[in-house]
Amino acid sequence: MTNGTDGIQSLVFTGFASLDAARFLLLRVVDPPAARASLGRLVEHGLRFGKGTREDRWHTALQIAFSADGLRTLGVTEDVLQTFERPFVEGIETEHRKRVLGDEGDNAPEHWAWRQRDLHAVLFVYAKGPELDAYTEATAARLAGWQVVRMLDTVTLDANREHFGFHDGIAQPKLALATDDGPASPPDALPLGEFVLGHRDLADQPAPTAADAGEATRQDGSYLVLRQLQEDVPAFWQDIRRRAGPDEQHAVWLAAKMMGRWPNGMPLAPGPVGPQPELPPGGTLPNGGELAYGADPQGLGCPRGAHVRRANPRDALGSEENVKRHRILRRGRCYGLPAPASVFPAGVTVTARAGTGALEDDRGLLFACLCADLSRQFELIQQTWLNNPKHDGLFDEVDPIASGQAITADERRYTIPEAPVRCRLHAVPFTVRVRGGAYLFLPGKAALSRLAEG
Ligand code: HEM
Repeated sequence: MTNGTDGIQSLVFTGFASLDAARFLLLRVVDPPAARASLGRLVEHGLRFGKGTREDRWHTALQIAFSADGLRTLGVTEDVLQTFERPFVEGIETEHRKRVLGDEGDNAPEHWAWRQRDLHAVLFVYAKGPELDAYTEATAARLAGWQVVRMLDTVTLDANREHFGFHDGIAQPKLALATDDGPASPPDALPLGEFVLGHRDLADQPAPTAADAGEATRQDGSYLVLRQLQEDVPAFWQDIRRRAGPDEQHAVWLAAKMMGRWPNGMPLAPGPVGPQPELPPGGTLPNGGELAYGADPQGLGCPRGAHVRRANPRDALGSEENVKRHRILRRGRCYGLPAPASVFPAGVTVTARAGTGALEDDRGLLFACLCADLSRQFELIQQTWLNNPKHDGLFDEVDPIASGQAITADERRYTIPEAPVRCRLHAVPFTVRVRGGAYLFLPGKAALSRLAEG
């Protein structure tokens, strides 16, 4: 076990926001010895490791993650592979996993645009806007032994919006990183082991526990979930605007009550329909963007079923300590051109700053998250909090944004508690659809070098 961070891929510490263009390359190994050799060259040049102190000066960055099949193809033996967590080894598409994630109906893998079985690895390519095309080309030319099976282009939207028009990427777990001379970690910071294997976690264990054949391969690595989540923006706003009637302010209020924050990221407060509050002077969110629900058990401000409150209930479920064990580091990017302005109510604007490739009239989120335990962290959030009708005292509704499709849209309800009478929405349409997904592993530097050496 180690406390060092230099051998960890930088995606654990940063979403590379200063590199506003990105493309995710889905790769297959076609010639293992050649693929290992080119991987070795990437480790030496291109892949970023550690918590960069001069990250804003980077012009490009690469990160790489592998499926279990990818590790196998590069020579990782079965006894080592079996020391990885079961969901990773089995992949995202088993019958059990489909039920856990709600990948049923329209979300079922047979309808996906790409599947885990098509790929062995994903190379995340980041650059400053105009440099991305040339950098992708130069990188692809260095990938002897690999075939690029698909490129997922991304887009950066202005003001950190996602396609429905909400400020995304606000709440992230803070990491407690031990440094001798640096500032002390904030009191609510989580130990690195919650996200990176081989480091101490909240249970004070190196995660996972035992020393074994796979320890060196897992050391400094993190599980990475990649899901292409298509957002039907016209359908989302059409439904909300129909419910709200001609009052556009009401439409924005309804959508905010479903998401759990105002489009500009401001927290919700109890009270009747009203306008979106302005950001404080300087544009920073109050309390650093942190939220608390303990004083609002009924959800009169942020409803108990809202996406943000379900995805991280914080102090709402009794034990904050317990909730902390189910955090994820979100590192996704948007894809596709923004929907036309006429789709949005007044006050919600989505425009693109940097985009790549031939973007179709198809948009959404390339959801990516990192964790040390797929079942305890990502799957628990999706299954027990987003998809569960019996969550936090609710009994017949699911996440209105990102639930799975184990129920039909006709059965999808949503409650906005209000005094004296709650507002109840029926037949909330599914406007997020899964279009691809994989469980991957983002190895540390030493493990990558060993992989490259075969
Ligand atoms: C297209 C689908 C999705 C959209 C549009 C979406 C949008 C958002 C937005 C606007 C926020 C608030 C901003 C922030 O705190 O960063 C948020 C927060 C969050 N979302 Fe999602 N999300 C989606 C899917 C998911 C999924 C599938 C998961 C996990 C399984 C997830 C987990 C989270 C978490 C953990 C937070 C932070 C909550 C907090 O700590 O307060 N989201 N999401």
